[in-house]
Amino acid sequence: MKLQFPATSRNRDPILAVLREVLAPPTARVLEVASGSGEHAAFFAAAMPWLTWQPTDVEAAHLVSIDAWAAEAELGPRLLPALAFNAATDPFLPGPWDGIFCANLVHISPWAVAEGLFRGAASALAPGGPLVTYGPYTIDGKHTSDSNVAFDESLKARDPRWGVRDVAALAAISPELELTQRIAMPANNFILVFRRV
Ligand SMILES: C[S@@+](CC[C@H](N)C(=O)[O-])C[C@H]1O[C@@H](n2cnc3c(N)ncnc32)[C@H](O)[C@@H]1O
Repeated sequence: MKLQFPATSRNRDPILAVLREVLAPPTARVLEVASGSGEHAAFFAAAMPWLTWQPTDVEAAHLVSIDAWAAEAELGPRLLPALAFNAATDPFLPGPWDGIFCANLVHISPWAVAEGLFRGAASALAPGGPLVTYGPYTIDGKHTSDSNVAFDESLKARDPRWGVRDVAALAAISPELELTQRIAMPANNFILVFRRV
C-alpha cells in the first residue's frame, strides 16, 4: 500500500532545490537511508534524471510503499527496489556511493542510529561525496525555535532515547566526515552537508 506523509509532501520542493546543487552531476549513485513512504525517492529520482536512487528502510510496510511509489513513477532501474536496512545494526550497504541522503531519522531514533549512519557513510561514500541530512537540529546546544523545544519534549515523551540532535555532536561522530554546509530550511529545519574527506 502506498503511504503518504503530510510533512514529506510539504518539504519535498525546498529539499529538491538544495539537492539539485549538492547532488549535481557527476553524482550518479545515491543511497537514501530511512526512505519512509518512498515519496521523496520517487520525487527526487524523477526530478534528477542523472541519478540512480537506492531507497531503504527498516519497516516492512514502508518497503512496500516505497516500491508502490516507484512503480507509479515508472523510472525503471534509476529507482531501485527498496532494501531492508537498519542503520544501527546492519552492516552498511556497500559503496562506493556518490551521495547519501537521509531525512528525518536521527531525532526519531536512538543515538546508535545516528552513529551507524555517520560511521557507515564515512566508510561507504566515495571521496568528496556528500552525506546530506534533513531535519530539526540544535546549534551549539540551543534550539532554533520555540516550536522545536516543544517538538523535542514530545519526542522524548514518546521515547527517552529520541530527541533533536546537536549539529556538533553529529559532526563529531566521524573524523572522516566534514560538515561543509548548514542550510536553513522552512519550518525551522536544516539541511546539513557532510563531505567524505
Ligand atoms: C519520520 S520517518 C522519515 C521518512 C522519510 N525520510 C521522510 O522524510 O519522509 C522516519 C523513518 O525512519 C525509519 N527508521 C527508523 N529507525 C530506523 C533505523 N534504525 N534504520 C533505518 N531506518 C529507520 C522509519 O521506518 C521511518 O520510515
